Amino acid sequence: MDRIRIRGGRPLSGEIKVGGAKNAALPLMVAGMLTDDRLVLTNVPRLADVQTMTLLIQQHGVAVDNVTNDARSLSIGGPISNTEAPYDIVRKMRASFLVLGPLLARVGEARVSLPGGCGIGARPIDLHLKGLEQLGARIELEGGYIDARVDGRLKGAKIVFPFVSVGATENLLMAATLAEGRTVLANAAREPEIGDLAAGLVAMGARISGIGSDTLTVDGVDRLHGAEHAIIPDRIETGSYACAAAISGGSVFLRDARLDHLGATVRILREAGVDITEQPDGLMVTRLNGLHGVDVMTEPYPGFPTDMQAQLMALLSVADGASMVTETIFENRFMHVPELNRMGARINVHGASAIVRGVPGLSGAPVMATDLRASLSLILAGLAAQGETIVNRVYHLDRGYEAVEQKLAACGVDIERISG
Ligand code: UD1
Repeated sequence: MDRIRIRGGRPLSGEIKVGGAKNAALPLMVAGMLTDDRLVLTNVPRLADVQTMTLLIQQHGVAVDNVTNDARSLSIGGPISNTEAPYDIVRKMRASFLVLGPLLARVGEARVSLPGGCGIGARPIDLHLKGLEQLGARIELEGGYIDARVDGRLKGAKIVFPFVSVGATENLLMAATLAEGRTVLANAAREPEIGDLAAGLVAMGARISGIGSDTLTVDGVDRLHGAEHAIIPDRIETGSYACAAAISGGSVFLRDARLDHLGATVRILREAGVDITEQPDGLMVTRLNGLHGVDVMTEPYPGFPTDMQAQLMALLSVADGASMVTETIFENRFMHVPELNRMGARINVHGASAIVRGVPGLSGAPVMATDLRASLSLILAGLAAQGETIVNRVYHLDRGYEAVEQKLAACGVDIERISG
């Protein structure tokens, strides 16, 4: 199994190109299943999760082809010949569950494995199912699979989510585009990736209003057509490399990064002492002076994202003073804490909050990546640590970060992948 070795202490200096957003690419790929024509996606990141999604869509009979040699443009679409999403794929990647709505909308039936739990929590799918039932689907659970059916077309309805869910908003939004009549999604998630999915669907002929707000109104159409759509830059990759510049005491230009998608991340990083300035084609991130502790709570967008919590915690572990980090989205998302503590951080977890007492420095150690964002948090700690850090289980990292070691090495970091 691959590992990453970092020898810490070198400030980042240079430029990193931010890739397409993983969490926009995955639902947009699924949106390609809504048409017999072709949805061409550009700025697709090269990630293990994108490969998994490709396999899933292909096994539904829908074509997924590389349009260019660099695999950054995909063409997706065609008739659906198989309505089952098997356990072996869904268990690997929870976003697989997004095929449920589109399968129902297009062919009136779907059999999708339940995703099960994952490292960061139980992650139920009740909101997806309840919403689809409100659109007229009959849903049964059998042998670990969701069996869903609808006679004729799905029918528009008003769906009020009891709390904000990115995945449920996406599943229902896609299903509603082909439903009969009007669907209103209230208390919908407002993440930039939802806006990007909606923009892609509109390019395919969907009728959606309220994009960017917490109420999406969808007037169903009979069919969607082909389109071309460029995926937005990844705001979590942006925030992660901003933390890399900051923790290493360096400076980096993040090409293509968008300030307007960062929400609370930019405010929190600035409060912690990180300088972020907008330029025409990206963001300049520099650590000017010392870092300060900040209190932060994860929230749905535009609040501080749970997907940045582990990376920020690495940064705060070497900031002046104490910080309180409260996780409100997932119940078990502090698995990076014991690993950071092995490197000399002083972090205590009390329920949903972690108290981080800043230390003057960290020391390199062998550590274990436990999930995608935790992996990056450990790499960040390795950048600041004295000596050598080995991050094990980097397959988590490869799910969602493209070429981390190349991107950081190009900015002067002493980092390499050890294969096998
Ligand atoms: C998406 C992102 C993930 C991010 C998360 C929160 C993708 C592919 N993944 O995940 O990176 O961390 O948003 O920003 O875009 N919940 C329920 N019932 C449901 C659905 C969700 O109880 O039916 C709960 C979840 O367990 C969690 C909370 O709602 O506690 C938010 O989850 P949700 O926004 O749905 O996350 P995902 O779409 O799975």
